[in-house]
Amino acid sequence: MSSEIKDINLWESGERKIQWVRKNCPLLSMLHDEFEKTKPFAGKKVALSVHLEAKTAYLCLTLAAGGAEMYVTGSNPLSTQDDVAAALVHAGLEVHAWHGTTPEEYEKHIRAVLEVGPDIIIDDGGDLVHMMHTEYRDLAAKVIGGCEETTTGILRLEAMNRANELLFPMVRVNNAMMKHFFDNRYGTGQSVWDGINRTTNLIVAGKIVVVAGYGWCGKGTAMRAKGLGARVIVTEIDPVKAIEAVMDGFDVMPMKEAAKLGDFFVTVTGCDKVIDAEDFAVMKDGAILSNAGHFDCEIDMAGLREIAVEKAEMRENIMGYKLPTGQWIYVLGEGRLVNLACGDGHPAEIMDMSFAIQALSAKYLVEHASELKEKLIDVPNEVDIDVAKKKLAFMGKEIDVLTPEQEKYLNSASV
Ligand SMILES: NC(=O)c1ccc[n+]([C@@H]2O[C@H](COP(=O)([O-])OP(=O)(O)OC[C@H]3O[C@@H](n4cnc5c(N)ncnc54)[C@H](O)[C@@H]3O)[C@@H](O)[C@H]2O)c1
Repeated sequence: MSSEIKDINLWESGERKIQWVRKNCPLLSMLHDEFEKTKPFAGKKVALSVHLEAKTAYLCLTLAAGGAEMYVTGSNPLSTQDDVAAALVHAGLEVHAWHGTTPEEYEKHIRAVLEVGPDIIIDDGGDLVHMMHTEYRDLAAKVIGGCEETTTGILRLEAMNRANELLFPMVRVNNAMMKHFFDNRYGTGQSVWDGINRTTNLIVAGKIVVVAGYGWCGKGTAMRAKGLGARVIVTEIDPVKAIEAVMDGFDVMPMKEAAKLGDFFVTVTGCDKVIDAEDFAVMKDGAILSNAGHFDCEIDMAGLREIAVEKAEMRENIMGYKLPTGQWIYVLGEGRLVNLACGDGHPAEIMDMSFAIQALSAKYLVEHASELKEKLIDVPNEVDIDVAKKKLAFMGKEIDVLTPEQEKYLNSASV
């Protein structure tokens, strides 16, 4: 099948974005050059569903340099950048994606990359793997394995793993230290505020920001809100995380209370209906709502549309809803990941680490195909540490090395 994108003529703009990424992703560039020589993916078809912007495109080109036949789609209706998709097609890859897909189009694109009969799956959120296991089970036997990029995708896989339903091995890329320590925390922390700031053009200093969820992404989002001068309130369901938020200097309370106080809201829990109709009803006039969790269910958008008496687009990516009680509340990017729907996603230097882990995990799957079981597996620790060492070197930083005496001291029972 041939590619389905918005407009091939946009390729030059996409190519420039990819060149900028290339300059800022030394780890991926190193792997690109290595793969070009060693061709670890020769003869392998890779189906990939990841937010289709420039960093993802560079991952695709890196795998293609290693001999992979790439079949690419997005992982969210609003995160695909059409110029980047065009640049990949111009480079000879098959792409099925455009910005603003309907649910039917999104599903059709997922099917298109599965129907090629992939050997490797690279997923972000679990849509490829889910559809493979429900509607394309006959193609699963050919799959060597796959890699999952994000927390929500891992949660879906863990449920399948517990029920022994997985038909091929899946690598928990998100759980690698060199992924979630940096991508989820510093990547989300910076890019969420980039998305909110460029979309609203409003001041954050002096405002009240409510962050729902104090996991890896929530910590980054709250930390950067504080840095911008906001007073931050955290909502949680986990008592330990809640204490951590308190000790980090944030206020903690239930959403029912926080809803009355917030100027900005960011949900980043991976959970459903974290902000619901009761919360909308008590919000201040002008409250701005955004989501950074994988799916658009964290803000109850269906409930909001149902109770709204009026709706108006205020700026690109800002939809206003007038409540029966008279106040207007505003939702960014239709409640989809604000850093990708309203921005360019994580900084390149962050995705350099995440996608180096992705590329090396895919290589690991090929090299260990005969030994791996149909289970969830972790990124090998040596891969994580090797990526850390190389990134540190690219950052121009050195660290100490244990002397033999110190090593002996640390490994002996008697001190
Ligand atoms: N926007 C991005 O670029 C980006 C990047 C990485 C991950 N994600 C997504 O963000 C979400 C969170 O990822 P994470 O790595 O921070 O996960 P995490 O598991 O580290 O954190 C989630 C936190 O939310 C809390 N939580 C769950 N339900 C809640 C509720 N109803 N109310 C309040 N708190 C609740 C949990 O206790 C946990 O502390 C996932 O959907 C993940 O896929 C998005």
